[in-house]
Formats: sequence, C-alpha cells, structure tokens
Amino acid sequence: MRDPRAEHALDRAAGGGVMGYVSGPSGYSEQPVPGSGPSDSGRHVSSDPASRWLDTSSRIGARWGSLAGLVALAAVVLSSARCGGTPDSGTGPTPPDPPVSAHDPVLVGAGDIAMCPLGAQSATALLLDRIGGTVFTTGDNVYDAPTPAKYADCYGPAWGRHLERTRPVPGNHDYDPPGSSGYFGYFGENAGPKGLGYYSYDVATWHVIALNSQIGMQAGSAQYAWLQSDLAANPVRCTVAYFHYPLFSSSQNGPTASVRDLWRLLYDGGADVILNGNDHVYERFAPQDPAGRADAARGIRQFTVGTGGATLYGFGTPAPNSEVRASVHGVLKLYLQASGYAWEFVPVAGQSFRDGGTGTCH
Ligand SMILES: [Fe+2]
Repeated sequence: MRDPRAEHALDRAAGGGVMGYVSGPSGYSEQPVPGSGPSDSGRHVSSDPASRWLDTSSRIGARWGSLAGLVALAAVVLSSARCGGTPDSGTGPTPPDPPVSAHDPVLVGAGDIAMCPLGAQSATALLLDRIGGTVFTTGDNVYDAPTPAKYADCYGPAWGRHLERTRPVPGNHDYDPPGSSGYFGYFGENAGPKGLGYYSYDVATWHVIALNSQIGMQAGSAQYAWLQSDLAANPVRCTVAYFHYPLFSSSQNGPTASVRDLWRLLYDGGADVILNGNDHVYERFAPQDPAGRADAARGIRQFTVGTGGATLYGFGTPAPNSEVRASVHGVLKLYLQASGYAWEFVPVAGQSFRDGGTGTCH
C-alpha cells in the first residue's frame, strides 16, 4: 500500500462549459448552463493555505463575478433541473466551496465498475491515474459472472493498475458464481480475510471500515459482533464505512433494509460517513439516523457511488433527506481531515456534473 499522505494534490477534472450549480444544505453541485461555450472546468487543490479552494480562479470568477450574473445562472440551472434533465440535483442555499489542503489524506473510488465491453471503467480509471490516496470500491467490481478471468481481462486493464492501493468490498455480482473465488483471488490480502470480506484500517486520523453486505450481517452474526468489537477498539473521532447495499436510495434497486443493523451499530458508534453502491448512480444524503430521520448532530452522511463504469440507472421519487442525485460516471474523492471531511465528485471526461461540500466529525 502506498502512503496516501504522500500522494494526491492535483486533480484536474475533464469536461467543458460554463458551470452553474445548485446546492444542498451542506454542499454544492454543478451542472452545465445551456448554451455555454467550452472552458477550463478543471479544479485543483492548492498547497497554499490562503487559497485552499477546490476551484480554479476562473470558475470562482464565473460564480462570484456579479450578483446579477449569479441570480441569472441559478435561475437557468433550477429551470433545467425542473425539466427533469440529467443530472438531477437538490436545491438550497449556496455555501462556499470546501477548503482542502494538499496534505489532506484522500480516499477515492466508486462501485459497480467493470462491465465489458461497453462499460466506462476505463474512463473512471483515468480519473484514478491523477488522484492519489487509497482507492475504495463499493462492490460489483466486475460483471456478470466474475470469474478470475473476468477480473483479469475486464477489471484488470482499467482499475487493475491501482490494485496495490485498492481496498475493495464485494457486491452481489462478486458472489455470482457462488463462492466469490474470483473476488478474493484477485484482490488477495487487500480484501481482508478470505471468505469474510470485512476488515478495517486507518488512514491518518480516520478509522476506515469495509463491510460485506453479501453475508450475514444482522444482530447475532459474526460480522455484527466483529463490527461491535472494532468500533469499541477504535474510539477515534472520525470514522467512514463502506459496503455494497445502501440503506437509503432514490434509484431503481432501492433501499436494502437488511443492512440496517450494521447502520445502527455504526450510528451508535459515532460513524460519520457511509459509502455504498448497487444503484448505478451518484446520490448524496443529509446526515440521518438508521430510521431515516434527519439528524444534524449525530447522523451519518450516506453517499451512493455506483458510478464506476456499469450502465447507469435513473431515479424515482427522491427519498427523504436526499440532497443531490446524478446519473453520471465518476469517482468520489473524500478528503479525510483531522476533525472533518470534504467531498468532491469527479466526473469522467466530457461530463460536467460536480458535487462538493464539507462535514464535521461527531
Ligand atoms: Fe451493480
């Protein structure tokens, strides 16, 4: 494993066009302004603490150049969102962009990845090429029957070049055919104990927990007991967990109630962020409790990031507390700071959707 603290610093997202943005209570998201011309839509992380912002000065200028322009921009974007276009995003007040440092450790990844021959796994792998840190996956790493050959021939040429720094979890497709031999054989020790698939590790001051939602996870299961012990043994301020099935979803596969016991343990243990896949979309929720009630004080913020390359899904009725939704391929980048975090959704080349914001650890 490479040291994530020694890597990352520059992330220049591809795509063009002047960006408008709409935001949820704790972040912002962006979508193209119809009729805008191409422009540098890259964003970077500066090592200068006085200018630690995600966006280039040109984009800041586009946002803050004039109040009238900003109001007009918002009107266009909101109008576009109401027309049902993709991406479909939340609305709300606009906070400033999240400040990040070039020294912030990074966790970056997605789920639902390699679908040959037509998936976008090569495009999302290109994003990883320029983002340092630890790579997570949220399962369904390769489709359909993921034999060892499928891992080698489909996942391998794309995300496989980041195998050394990848800490995966399995999804339902990784257990088809039964036994998940392809999954555990391909990822080896980076996937945790063979046959179990749940494990934890630390990134700087953060505790990171990888769970397996394809095996027993209810109260009384071995995995449940392990998670209980792991949380008790790691009483750090900031914790992130990831597994395949989301408890909350506005997309077509929908919520998976069987992960609620794990969610409750994580909530009681003070976890801050949960990352999921299974629905092939990007969705961000406000902090919630395991019953789905908004909880700004102790709630967990869930991101669904099934955007690694598999065919994208759409959305139905937005679930409660869903803040941002988009059908777009890309990766989620989490900056793991000492007492909080910043997130940035980085789309594949040619896509303009953005999302970013900050949160504070419990
Ligand atoms: Fe999937």
